[in-house]
Amino acid sequence: MESFLISQSFDKAAADAVAIVVFSEEPVPPELASVSAWLDEIRVSEEFTGKPSELSVLHQPSGFAAKRLVVVGGGKRSSFDTSALRKAVGAAVRSLKQKGVKTLAWWLAGGDAAAAVEGAILGNFEPDRLKTSSKESKALESFSLLVPATTAEIQAAFERGKALAEAQNFTRTLVNEPANLMTPTILADRARAMASEAGLECEVLDQDRMRQLGMGSLLGVAQGSAEPPALIIVRYKPSTPPATADHLGLVGKGVTFDTGGVSIKPAEGMEKMKYDMAGGAAVLGAMQAIAQLKPAIPVTALVPAVENMVGARAQRPGDIVTSLSGKTIEVLNTDAEGRLILIDALTYAQRLGCTHLIDAATLTVAIVVALGHVNIGAFTNNDALLNRLLAAAKAEGEKTWPMPLDDEYKDLLKSAFADLGNIGGRWGGAISAAWFLREFAGDTPWVHLDIAGTAWLDDAKPHLAKGPSGVCVRTFANLAMNW
Ligand code: BES
Ligand code: ZN
Ligand code: ZN
Repeated sequence: MESFLISQSFDKAAADAVAIVVFSEEPVPPELASVSAWLDEIRVSEEFTGKPSELSVLHQPSGFAAKRLVVVGGGKRSSFDTSALRKAVGAAVRSLKQKGVKTLAWWLAGGDAAAAVEGAILGNFEPDRLKTSSKESKALESFSLLVPATTAEIQAAFERGKALAEAQNFTRTLVNEPANLMTPTILADRARAMASEAGLECEVLDQDRMRQLGMGSLLGVAQGSAEPPALIIVRYKPSTPPATADHLGLVGKGVTFDTGGVSIKPAEGMEKMKYDMAGGAAVLGAMQAIAQLKPAIPVTALVPAVENMVGARAQRPGDIVTSLSGKTIEVLNTDAEGRLILIDALTYAQRLGCTHLIDAATLTVAIVVALGHVNIGAFTNNDALLNRLLAAAKAEGEKTWPMPLDDEYKDLLKSAFADLGNIGGRWGGAISAAWFLREFAGDTPWVHLDIAGTAWLDDAKPHLAKGPSGVCVRTFANLAMNW
């Protein structure tokens, strides 16, 4: 889909549809004076009350160049924030493309141009790439954001929103691929292609290199699969020397399929475990956005990519592995594999000079029990970094909730035979998983985001398709931009 920012009056836009937000409990806006009788009628009949995501279409509207006039409910004006705008545009795009609309113009009298274009690009994504019938016909081809006047500020916001949403859709595309078409090797190829297009450096450590380095924890997970592992590293460096020595490291879990290994998962729902690389895909998407938005600090992304399989070479419960840090780990449950690959990447990130670490991982079912599908769970060893992350998440409308990490929980990871066990028992599972990671972050400021409940939508929302959400991409890019 192409998107444009245009300074044009609302009635002059020639498109399949021109859309405007109408708030509940407000008089007819001046832009709709010529069709006020229609608007009064749909309101009196309660066909359209202005509630969020409500939509009504008038064909051949008199006084308008567009084929259709669309009113989109905005709810109460006082609660119409950037999130609500992003959702309103997304919901309209998803509904209108279904009705055959190919070109949509959106009247933005005020509000955030970034959120508006994000809503359109995100709403236009469908996870049906591999359906062989009729998918082409359902997409919007062009989205024009109409503003009274294009200032430099609006132009910049529009470009930022476009970069962010396209990067988020790149992440969703990666996550959506089935595991037979998204192995660690393929993920590395996609990262390389993205990096070369975006002007970033990309390096991929293979199994031999990881063995030389001593990444025994990551390799223990990978050994059960016929697909070789990869440690994907993508680097962004600002063109002018940065003002601080800070270097942000983004680490994402890249398990391209999680069977659980010998501690095998139940068959029901296992197909969903293709999204176990959503954290890795999110940091790659963030790098694509960062390459375009050019923040002032260096950012390095690390994606440990493996397939967690059952097989003759798979690691066994009770195996003891030596991580890159030197610490030994008793693998009590092979399904707690995310933490095992992340820790070697966290250690390596510190060796590459990262001074601040953020990781994103579909790590535990326990975080879904705790926070449902609404909030990302955030854990930290450094409140200042967490607060920055929370501010970025809030600005981008990606709900994130701080979780506790008291010392008492650390004892859950005790092992009789190694430095640490890889599981902490039945209760507080998201916290013991986070503590496991923390042991390897050391004194480096670090935030862990458990996105098991938020990286995949089991059902479509009015503004988003079912499937991969692409969560964290905007938050990470925002964090780097506002460092
Ligand atoms: N990838 C899973 C967590 C997961 C499950 C994410 C379902 C999204 C949906 C992770 O590797 C895992 O299996 N975690 C286990 C850990 C347990 C064995 C300590 C879990 O949460 O059950
Ligand atoms: Zn697992
Ligand atoms: Zn997993």
